[in-house]
Amino acid sequence: MTRRCFIIGHPVAHSRSPLIHGHWLAEYGLAGSYERVDVPPAEVPAFIARLRAGEFVGGNVTVPNKEAVLPLLDQASATARAMGAANTLWMADGRLHGDNTDAYGFLAHLDACVPGWAERARTALILGAGGAARAVIHGLAERGVNRILLVNRSSERAVDLAASFPEAVEAHPWRDVAVLVAESDLIVNTTSLGMHGQPPLEIDLSALRPGTIVDDIVYVPLETPLLAEARRRGGLPVDGLGMLLHQAVPGFERWFGVRPQVTDALRVKLEADIPAS
Ligand code: ATR
Repeated sequence: MTRRCFIIGHPVAHSRSPLIHGHWLAEYGLAGSYERVDVPPAEVPAFIARLRAGEFVGGNVTVPNKEAVLPLLDQASATARAMGAANTLWMADGRLHGDNTDAYGFLAHLDACVPGWAERARTALILGAGGAARAVIHGLAERGVNRILLVNRSSERAVDLAASFPEAVEAHPWRDVAVLVAESDLIVNTTSLGMHGQPPLEIDLSALRPGTIVDDIVYVPLETPLLAEARRRGGLPVDGLGMLLHQAVPGFERWFGVRPQVTDALRVKLEADIPAS
C-alpha cells in the first residue's frame, strides 16, 4: 500500500516541503506520496478525521494551523507542548501523535555549519518573539545557552516570551539592538524581515565582533541582507534553508521508516527553487 503524507496550511502552495520529501522518496526508492492540502483553520478538525480514518499515515502542519492541531492529538511530545504547536503528525497504533521539530531543525543545521558552537555561544541575541523565536529559544536553552537577549517590535510579546524562560531570557527594547550586538556570540533573526516581499531588517551591525555567528531563519533570498552584512564584518553567516531541511527529517523517518540524510544534492535542488533576491 502506498503511504500517503500531507502538508496542511492556508495558503500552502508556497510550501517547499513536497520538494524535500519527494527527493527522499525517490532517493530511497520508497512507494509513497507527499501532497499539499490547503486547509483553512475552520476545516482542521475535519481533515484530522480523514487522517484518523486511515487516508494518510501522517504529515506536516504549517501556518496558520500549528496551534489548532495541538488539542486534537492523542499524544503530544514534550516539545510540542512547550511550543503550544505541532508541525509533524503521525498515526501509531490507532493514536494520533504530534511533535514540533523546528527547534531540532534549527539546532541540527547550526551543528552542521558551526560544530562546537554551543561552547562559545555564551550570549545569544534573538530578534522576534513569535512561534519561531520560541522554538529557537527552546533549542538554545536545551543546549545550555543561559544568557539570551530578546528584542521584538512589540515589546509586550518579548516580555511574555521571556517569562516562559525566566532563567535564561531577558527582554530588551528594540532601540538597544546596536549595543546588544556587541555583547552577543550568536545572533538569530526569527522575524520575517528581510524576506522577499517583506520590509528590510534594519539593524546596526557596526559593533559586531568578528567570529560572531549570525543565523537568519529567512531563506528567501538564501543570502539575506543581514547575512551579507555579517559576512562583510567577519561574522559567520548561517542561512535558514538548513533549518527547513533538517526539521523535515524526523517526520520522514516516522512515516517511511528510513532516517533520511540532508545532502548537498538535496540542498542544490532546493536552492534552484529559491529566487536570488
Ligand atoms: P512565526 O511563527 O514565524 O515566528 P509570528 O508569530 O507571526 O510568526 O512572528 C513574526 C515575528 O516577526 C514577530 O516577532 C513580529 O513582530 P511583532 O510581534 O511585533 O508582530 C516580527 N515582525 C513581522 N513583521 C515585522 C515588521 N514589519 N517589523 C518588525 N517586526 C516584524
